[in-house]
Amino acid sequence: MTGTDMAATLAALTSRWEQARPYNIGFPGATDLDFTELAPLLAGYLLNNVGDAWVDGIAVNHTKEMEREVVDFFADLFRVASDDRWGYVTSGGSEANLYGLWLARTLHLDAVTYFSAEAHPSIPKAAALLGLPTVIVRAEPEGTIDYQDLARQIDQRRDRAVIVVANIGTTMTEAVDDVRRIMQVLDELAIRRRYIHADAALSGIPLSLMDSQARPGFDLADGADSIACSGHKFTGVVTPCGVVVTRKTLRDRLSAAVAYTGSSDTTIIGSRSGHAPLMLWYAIRRLGVDGLRARAERSRALAEHLQTRLADLRWPASRHPHAMTVVLQTPPQVVLKKWVLVTRGERSHIITAPGTTQDSLDAFVDDLRAAINTPPDRRSDPVSAIPPQRHTDTAPQPPNTARRVFRTGR
Ligand SMILES: Cc1ncc(COP(=O)(O)O)c(C=O)c1O
Repeated sequence: MTGTDMAATLAALTSRWEQARPYNIGFPGATDLDFTELAPLLAGYLLNNVGDAWVDGIAVNHTKEMEREVVDFFADLFRVASDDRWGYVTSGGSEANLYGLWLARTLHLDAVTYFSAEAHPSIPKAAALLGLPTVIVRAEPEGTIDYQDLARQIDQRRDRAVIVVANIGTTMTEAVDDVRRIMQVLDELAIRRRYIHADAALSGIPLSLMDSQARPGFDLADGADSIACSGHKFTGVVTPCGVVVTRKTLRDRLSAAVAYTGSSDTTIIGSRSGHAPLMLWYAIRRLGVDGLRARAERSRALAEHLQTRLADLRWPASRHPHAMTVVLQTPPQVVLKKWVLVTRGERSHIITAPGTTQDSLDAFVDDLRAAINTPPDRRSDPVSAIPPQRHTDTAPQPPNTARRVFRTGR
C-alpha cells in the first residue's frame, strides 16, 4: 500500500466515524473530550505501567505518577480513607470486576458469589475464570436486585462466606443495587464473612457527584469493599480502560512477588498501558470535579428532555431519577436501521452520554414520529439531518430547567 493509499484509507475511516457519531446514541462512551494535546506522546513512545501503580520499577517509560493521581481522584470520589487505599488503571471495567472478585475470593476461599440476573456478562465470566460458585438472584423489572430473593438465597447457604456483586448502573436500565440495603440484608442474616464488589462501570462517577443522601449507596463509605469503573464511558477516554479501587489493607492480603521489572506483580495483567492513565489524568485535570458534575447534570437534563419528547409522542419510556439512560419501547426497524440503539426484545435504550446533542435526540424523535405515522408497508429510510458535531473539551452548562422526576410511560 502506498502512502497515498494509506492516507486515503485513514481519511475514509475518520469520515465514516464522524458521520456515524450523531446516530450512535445507544452506548455510554462520552465523545466530548479532545485529546489532541497528547498526540506527541503517541509518536513513538512505549509507555508501559508494568506491575503495581505504586512501585515505579526500573524502567522510566511509564506514567505511574499520573496513574496514582487518577486512582487518588477516584478514591476521593468513592470515599476511600486516604491512608488505606489502593487501585490501578485496568484495561476496562471487565478487568476491574475480575480484580474485585479475585481479591474477594482470596479473602474468602469458601465463598458463594451472588449477583442479579441483570449483571453484566463480565461478572459471570470473572466468576467462571476464578472457579467461584455463583447464585443468580432475581432482578426487579426496572433492573435492581430483588433484596428478598437475595436474603432467601443467602439464608439457604449460611455456612458459606458471601460475595455480593452490586450493579451500580445496570447495562440495560442503569438501575442501582443499593449497597446500604445489601449490608442490611447481610446484617439481618448475621453474615460476618462478607465482601461486596460494586460494578460501577458507567454510573460510578456521576453518582459520586450527587448528594450522598439523595442517591443509592454504592461506595466504600456505604459498605462496598471494591469498586470497578470504566474509563472510556463517562470519563470519555478514547481507548478502553478502567479503574479499580479498594482498601490497601485488603489488597495487602494478596501476596505479590517483586518481578524482574522492579515492580510488584499485584495487577491482573503485567504490562499495562501507560497511555490510558495519561488520558484519564488529562480528562480529570481538564474537567475537575465541577466540570464532571456539570457534564453529569447536562446528561441527565438531556435524558429528561428525550423522555419528555417521547411522552409527547405517547411512546412508552422510563428512566431512573439518577440516570442518563432512557429505556423505551423498541422503535420500528426502519428507525433502528439508521440509529444505533441497544435493543433487548421489546425494550431498547438510549444513553445521553456527554457529547450527545439535543439536535441528535430531536432528530431521532422526528424519525420515530415519521415511522409511527407511516403504515409499515410504506416505511422507507428516515431522512432527518443532524448538524455535524464538534469536539469540545469545555463542559456545557446544564440548563436551569433540569428536573429530577421518575416518569414512566408504561
Ligand atoms: C454494568 C457494566 N459492567 C461492566 C461493563 C464492562 O466494562 P468494559 O466494557 O469497560 O470492560 C459494562 C460495559 O458496558 C457494563 O455496562
